[in-house]
Amino acid sequence: MQHYFTSRPQVASRPREVRALLRGRTWAFLTDRGVFGHKGVDAGTRLLIDTMVVRPGDDVLDLGCGYGPVGIVAATLAQDGRVVMIDINERAVALAAENARRHGLANVEVMQGDGLELLAGREFDVIATNPPIRAGREALRRLFHDARDHLRDQGRFYFVARTAQGAKTLAAAVDEIIGNVQEQAKGGGYRVYVAVKDV
Ligand SMILES: C[S@@+](CC[C@H](N)C(=O)[O-])C[C@H]1O[C@@H](n2cnc3c(N)ncnc32)[C@H](O)[C@@H]1O
Repeated sequence: MQHYFTSRPQVASRPREVRALLRGRTWAFLTDRGVFGHKGVDAGTRLLIDTMVVRPGDDVLDLGCGYGPVGIVAATLAQDGRVVMIDINERAVALAAENARRHGLANVEVMQGDGLELLAGREFDVIATNPPIRAGREALRRLFHDARDHLRDQGRFYFVARTAQGAKTLAAAVDEIIGNVQEQAKGGGYRVYVAVKDV
C-alpha cells in the first residue's frame, strides 16, 4: 500500500473539487487521489485552520501543505506577509499551486521538497502543520528541530494531531525541542497545540 506521503503517487489521477467551511467562509479546493484529505478537508486540518493565529504581516510556512488548505487560508489572513507551502508529494504541490492561483493569491510560493531542506536562510513568524504522523517518530523529531531553526524569535509553531495517535506525546517532544507548548483547541478526537520560540 502506498502511503499518502509518497513523492509520486501511482494511483490514477481523478481531480475533483471539495468545499469546506473554514473561519466562517466557504472555500473550494481542487483535490485528487493520492493526496491527503482528497475527499474533503480533514477534520484535524479544519481545527488547525480555525485555531491558528495569523497576523496581516506574518511570514508563514505551511509544512506538508497537501493541496493547500492551511497555506491558502493563511495567505488570505497574511495579506502583507508571504506564505511558503511545501510538500514532498508532486501531485499535492501542483494542486496547491493551482488552488493558490484560483484564490488569486500573489503572496504564495509553492515548493516540492523534503521537510525544510530547500529553505536555508528563510525564517518565519508562523509554521503550521498537520504533520505526516506515519513518517515515524524520528522523522517528526527532525521536522520539529528544523522548524525551530526556521522560526523567528517569538515565532509560533502550530500543529494538530489525533489524540489517539499520540498527540500528547508529540506535544511533549515539541515542548522539548521548541518550548512553551500549550494546547489551543481540542475536538472530534484532535488536539491543536502551539509552541512559541523563545531565544
Ligand atoms: C497529514 S498530511 C496534511 C496535508 C495538508 N496540510 C492538509 O492538512 O490537508 C501531511 C502532508 O505532509 C506531506 N509530507 C510527508 N512527508 C513530508 C516531507 N518529508 N516533507 C514535506 N512534506 C511531507 C505529505 O505528502 C502530506 O501532504
